[in-house]
Amino acid sequence: MKLRFLGHSCFYLEEGSFKALIDPFITGNPQSPASVDEIDEITHIFVTHGHGDHLGDTVPVAKATGATVITNHEIGVYLEKFGLKVHTMHIGGRVKMDFGTVKMTPALHGSGITTEDGMIYGGNPGGFIIEVNNKKIYHAGDTGLTMDMKLLEEEKIDIALLPIGGNFTMDVEDAVRAVEFIKPKVAIPMHYKTFPVINGDPYEFKESVDVCDVVILNPGDEYNY
Ligand code: NI
Ligand code: MN
Repeated sequence: MKLRFLGHSCFYLEEGSFKALIDPFITGNPQSPASVDEIDEITHIFVTHGHGDHLGDTVPVAKATGATVITNHEIGVYLEKFGLKVHTMHIGGRVKMDFGTVKMTPALHGSGITTEDGMIYGGNPGGFIIEVNNKKIYHAGDTGLTMDMKLLEEEKIDIALLPIGGNFTMDVEDAVRAVEFIKPKVAIPMHYKTFPVINGDPYEFKESVDVCDVVILNPGDEYNY
């Protein structure tokens, strides 16, 4: 599996013909190494919640590529108005898809969608466990530390993508506790230093985690698992 970090919480996943983006915040992302114009082949887009730094470029990328958007019911209904192909699911649900399975996990956060007409309801925020070719990736979305993460240990996660920035999500200290709950094989920090207010230090995170490997990716970096 190829994983490429596109800054903030945005990751590109590739395994065979499965080419996915998670939380495609590219335009307006000061850390993004990519631009929407250069993204041509995407089969699936996962959206964890409705905030602009996660919903991001979902509409233009899905329109340009024909990708199926996988997200919660409320965001899905919102996106269908743009003519996108949408698969909606919700917290705790698992589904078999052509590339593997997806389970939606809880997140403690908000999910409002900011529009020109004000904020609209975006359902519950979540995260995703994506299993492709017997490899399991967990993208936590934006969340505080929760006891629910203890249940994820049983999922036998290979790679956990965890926010560490603080202010809106877990900080380093809580993300370290999350890793101890989840016990993935590899943890990759995200959602830090995009903006001054989320200043968690990935090196402090790496030094503090001793139950698994921590891989720090700079925007644009690739990791093969
Ligand atoms: Ni958020
Ligand atoms: Mn966020």
